[in-house]
Amino acid sequence: MLCLGIESTAHTFGVGIVDENCRVLSNKKAVYVPPSGGIVPREAFLHHTSKAPEVLLSSLKEAGIDIGDIDVFSFSRGPGLGPCLRAGAVLTRFLSLKTGKPIIGVNHCVAHIEIGKKLSGASDPVVLYVSGGNTQVLAFVDGRYRTFGETLDVGVGNALDMFARECGLQHPGGPKIERLAENGKYVKLPYTVKGMCLSFSGIITEALRLYRSGVRLEDLCFSLQETLFAMLTEVTERALAHTGKNEVLLTGGVAANKRLREMLRIMCEERGADFYTVPHEFAGDNGAMIAWTGILAFTSGISEKVEDTKINPRWRTDEVDITWIQPSTNL
Ligand code: ATP
Ligand code: FE2
Repeated sequence: MLCLGIESTAHTFGVGIVDENCRVLSNKKAVYVPPSGGIVPREAFLHHTSKAPEVLLSSLKEAGIDIGDIDVFSFSRGPGLGPCLRAGAVLTRFLSLKTGKPIIGVNHCVAHIEIGKKLSGASDPVVLYVSGGNTQVLAFVDGRYRTFGETLDVGVGNALDMFARECGLQHPGGPKIERLAENGKYVKLPYTVKGMCLSFSGIITEALRLYRSGVRLEDLCFSLQETLFAMLTEVTERALAHTGKNEVLLTGGVAANKRLREMLRIMCEERGADFYTVPHEFAGDNGAMIAWTGILAFTSGISEKVEDTKINPRWRTDEVDITWIQPSTNL
């Protein structure tokens, strides 16, 4: 069985083709880079619609198949930016109607989790999902990925990107901050964990104040990583303790960061838990994760009519019934 998945929630327009064993036949993408400032939804929409034919055709070519060989189509229904989501949804509906093959709208955050689990070998982890727009600590309990902790304001990736942008670094800021941090020393920043929730925007405001008062950029990059990642590690550790699970999975675009991985690995070692992380190529937004989640949903019996595939820009991870996992009530 082959599923073609289309990702278009924000910056990335991606097309992945995956089989029922999660063998990735192709995974192509085009990424919109805002000229300055944050993402402009209309510009991202125009980017996605103009790149769609090229990305789709190169994905089919790399997989060595024809559109008629696809058994099911899936797309990111949400969460994300309305215009971006619509670009992917419209193309997927067209492909489904043209070929007469089924269509499934999948949750983008669930897709980050499922590709991470499958490719890393984790079975029932506490998930730290960290990307541009999202920061959540989740675990599967009783039919859903339940939220144990999350950001109260922006996602940790967007927090890093905002800081980077104000300091003149190009988008995406995360990788640039990681490189600059290699030559930095610690300066004190606020640390804001509130129960199981996290808040990043005040820390960024303070880091920018220090930057403008002359503190070295390398030192601020180092200190931001140490502070924000320690906060994430603390909440993840507490979720492990609450749920009694013994695996941690790191997924989402910020999972590419080596220091974050190191902190989580050390925490897991100290608790006797296993640490898993999504392979680098599949950490950021990509079509393969949407295709794999499409396969999981389809083989668990989900089927949708084209007219029911409306986008859902505010679709939360914990609103999705996970029909492909046997419910466990081990809490
Ligand atoms: P979502 O819709 O899930 O929020 P997204 O559109 O933010 O996804 P992703 O590709 O999942 O996209 O994540 C991109 C984010 O990851 C950006 O904020 C980027 O700065 C961050 N990032 C990428 N590489 C690194 C890194 N090495 N260190 C820290 N952050 C990183
Ligand atoms: Fe994402």
